Order: sequence, then structure tokens, then C-alpha cells
Amino acid sequence: MRTPLIVGNWKMNNGPKATAEFIEALKPIALDSAVEASLCVPAVDLTTAARLLEGTGVSFGAQNMHFEDGGAYTGEISAPMLTEIGTRFVVLGHSERREYFGETDEMINRKVHQALKHELRPILCVGETLEEREAGAQEEKIRRQLDGDLVGLTAADFDHLVIAYEPIWAIGTGKTASAEDAQEICGFIRGYIRERFGASAAQSCRIQYGGSVKPDNVSEIMGKPDIDGALVGGASLVAESFAQLVNFKR
Ligand code: PGA
Repeated sequence: MRTPLIVGNWKMNNGPKATAEFIEALKPIALDSAVEASLCVPAVDLTTAARLLEGTGVSFGAQNMHFEDGGAYTGEISAPMLTEIGTRFVVLGHSERREYFGETDEMINRKVHQALKHELRPILCVGETLEEREAGAQEEKIRRQLDGDLVGLTAADFDHLVIAYEPIWAIGTGKTASAEDAQEICGFIRGYIRERFGASAAQSCRIQYGGSVKPDNVSEIMGKPDIDGALVGGASLVAESFAQLVNFKR
């Protein structure tokens, strides 16, 4: 079965000093070993995370990556650089990258292939805006994103790929989608994978919900059949809160 996956997405928060303090505070707390936990940290914190998380059972990930192996791409980070330091996950296509940095489905698709080629696990984010939700167009939007983002993948890739459903109106707003709404879309995503890549791909792909997940709502969300994990921004920034998310009641 699919291992539950709780991932912190720190965004542009916590420098190396704060990262070290966070990990020191996390270490004495017992974490549920049946839950996979990871921290997606700013690029400048990756080596600190690599060093200090060793032996804790918590892995780390990046928040973005370029689709080429190397070259003249000022400011970018490559998949080989990430794997060299033991990075496990990479968040791809987060709505903030799509909106503020002009990432297109075509670019995101290239990044997904690049991550898989280098044995990084992509956490591919999809989700609708408030206007799209109010117009009842959420499934249409997500279908369109998946149509573009998953071009050329094979069924076996879904053993490694994670998809995060993140309704944009619920990110950082304190407005969580109801567990029922989150389940509805995560179920839709699993159905989409089944239709396009087959039953075993749908069975193995881990699907997360993200958007104002907190220690007090994580259990209800994680209780839904098609939700295998949570991608958490604000509530992952403090060690005690992150630990509570990982130790959600089952
Ligand atoms: P949030 O962010 O938990 O602060 O809403 C989630 C995300 O953007 O991944």
C-alpha cells in the first residue's frame, strides 16, 4: 500500500541558521515511523539539511530545479547537483512558480522527466484558482494541467511521482478545502491516472493535498481514501508543528 507522506514546503523562509535550529528541535521528538516525512527547504539550506538530517529518518527536498543537466543558466540548480547531496524530492510546478515565474506546463513536463531520470521524486503541484472553482471548472483545469505535465511518462514512473492537489485559493489563506472537496479532486486525479496510464499506475501514485493544512485538520484530510499525504507550507515552519503533522492520528 501507499506510505503516507508529509512534506514541509518552507518556500522562501528559514535560512541555514534557522534550519539547524529546526532540526535540533525536531531530533528529540519521536516521529511515527510508518509515515514518510520530508522537508523541502530553500536551496541555500540543502547542504545543512543533508548534514543534520542524516540518521533522523526525515529526508529533504528542493523546491525547484532546472530541466538541463548543466550549462549557462545563471541562478539555476540542476538535478545532478541535487542528487549529489542526497536530495530525495523536488517540488515542481508549484502555483507560485507558475504564477510569479512564468513556468508553463511544457517546462514543468521537462522538469518532471529530468527529475525522474536522475532518481529524484517529483512532487508535481496542480490546482485551480478561486474563479475556476466558483465557475465549477476545477476538474477541467486540473485535467488540462495533467495533460501537459505528464506527457511522455510511463506507468512505472508513478512509483516515484507524487502529485499534490493544491487549490490556489487555499494556499496560505487559512481557508482549507473541506476534506470532502479535497477527496473529490484527489479521487479525480487518481481516476485520470487510471484512464491514461493504467490501474497499477493509479494504485501506486501518491497523491497529496496542500493548502492550509494544520495539526488540527491533518487527520481528517489524511483519513480520506485517495489522499496519501499533505504538502504543508506555514504549519511546517516550526519543528513542533511539523512533528504534530507527521504524527497525525490515524
Ligand atoms: P500553506 O502552503 O500550507 O501555507 O497553505 C501550502 C503550499 O503552498 O504548499
